[in-house]
Amino acid sequence: MERREFLKWVGIGIFASNLPVLIAACSSNNTDISITETTQTPDPISVQTQDGFIPIGTIQELEKDSFILDKKYNVIIIRDQENGTIMALNPKCPHQGCTVKWKRDQNNLECPCHGSKFGTNGQLLQGPANESLPIYTLKQEGDSLLIKMS
Ligand code: FES
Repeated sequence: MERREFLKWVGIGIFASNLPVLIAACSSNNTDISITETTQTPDPISVQTQDGFIPIGTIQELEKDSFILDKKYNVIIIRDQENGTIMALNPKCPHQGCTVKWKRDQNNLECPCHGSKFGTNGQLLQGPANESLPIYTLKQEGDSLLIKMS
């Protein structure tokens, strides 16, 4: 390929990649130009319901894996194996910040780093942590499980 032909194709490529921006800029009723990537993760505000709840998962997901761990919102959802209550907790161990693991067969949460244990409602059962896990308000709408962060 000759240099001139190569430069022609590079020019076409640059033009084509910027075409959406150019179209948006030329639109008469678009004064603000914003480009949103479809792979972008929505921020917490944009997925909140009107009452401030955020969808975290579904009953099916909870039943399938026995827990839902959402690292983005830092929440673990579990079902108490004794009374069936569904709980949403902050899984960050108050000792040194490791993520606790759900132990379904023991009906508690355990920290893999230094062995702290917590009950299904977050209460501290065994140290070295000296605080319980914070719990979130949780509600079920149909099959969806939603939490309120504050
Ligand atoms: S970080 Fe959890 S017990 Fe140390």
